[in-house]
Amino acid sequence: MFPAGNMPEGSTARRDPFSDRFAYEDSGPVSAFLIILAVPLAFSIVWCLLYHSEPYSGGEPSVHIWTIALGHWSLGFCAGGLGQCSPQALDSLVERAVVNALRDPVGLPDLALRAHGGRVFKTLTTPWADRQSSGTIPLYPPDVVLNEDLRVGSCWLISDTHAQLAIVIPKLLYPTNVTIDHVPREITVDIGQAPRHMRLWGLLEDPTNRDLYYAIVGTGNATSAPPISGRHVYALLADFSYDIHAQSHIQTFQVDPRLVASRIYFGMVILEIIDNWGSTSTCLYRVRIHGDPVEK
Ligand SMILES: *[C@@H]1O[C@H](CO)[C@@H](O)[C@H](O)[C@H]1NC(C)=O
Ligand SMILES: *[C@@H]1O[C@H](CO)[C@@H](O)[C@H](O)[C@H]1NC(C)=O
Repeated sequence: MFPAGNMPEGSTARRDPFSDRFAYEDSGPVSAFLIILAVPLAFSIVWCLLYHSEPYSGGEPSVHIWTIALGHWSLGFCAGGLGQCSPQALDSLVERAVVNALRDPVGLPDLALRAHGGRVFKTLTTPWADRQSSGTIPLYPPDVVLNEDLRVGSCWLISDTHAQLAIVIPKLLYPTNVTIDHVPREITVDIGQAPRHMRLWGLLEDPTNRDLYYAIVGTGNATSAPPISGRHVYALLADFSYDIHAQSHIQTFQVDPRLVASRIYFGMVILEIIDNWGSTSTCLYRVRIHGDPVEK
């Protein structure tokens, strides 16, 4: 017997979960399937009876043409319906669903990936501890966000709501998008650690790029920079928010279209985390930088 606490309120007997499943979940698709198949099937049976019965065989030509057309249409419809349910068709349907599920949801190369040579630039990154202050649990260095790993806890744990991370891209690039990965809401204990408002900055080294940038945004913006700026000049590439309520836990944001169009290139970007979803600490799992490599 189940303990009383597990019983649905007001029910007196335990319901059989299997009979429930068949009774409720399958009735929709099955009845739809029957209607789709049964209606044309009935048409074709009526057509066969009409066509082969005495008064109509050799009767009015107009009746003939209509019944033949209708019969062919409904037989074709039945064959089509059955074809969709053949084992081969089902196999390819399942295969397509599996391929889609395994495919990367972003579908853009990650140019900051550590495996591609991306690395963290310490001088322009918020200082980090390698152990939790209270205990002995070792912490990951910020490089962990340049890996593909999305297991719970494999994040850069920041003991604050505000931080910044400088990423050296192995090849100069024209940035187009930035992706933030966080573990799905359902499997995390504290979704409040997810980053919320963020900015992506690009370090402007080349004087030509700097002039191009000023031409786009105006010279009044020269002082705009992330908190740890090292007196460099920066372009604000994107200003965005990660949404823990969104359907996907992997979210892609666009770089300012004016900058994409300008073809200003960058070798270093800085992700500034402005706040999070309510926790006292922040966990950054993965950052991906997308764009077109500069051909030289
Ligand atoms: C990436 O940004 C471009 C514009 O720069 C946009 O057209 C495209 O939809 C973005 N891709 C994704 C996956 O958001
Ligand atoms: C640039 O400066 C102008 C005014 O000088 C301001 O309206 C605009 O919001 C600034 N843009 C950025 C990206 O800071």
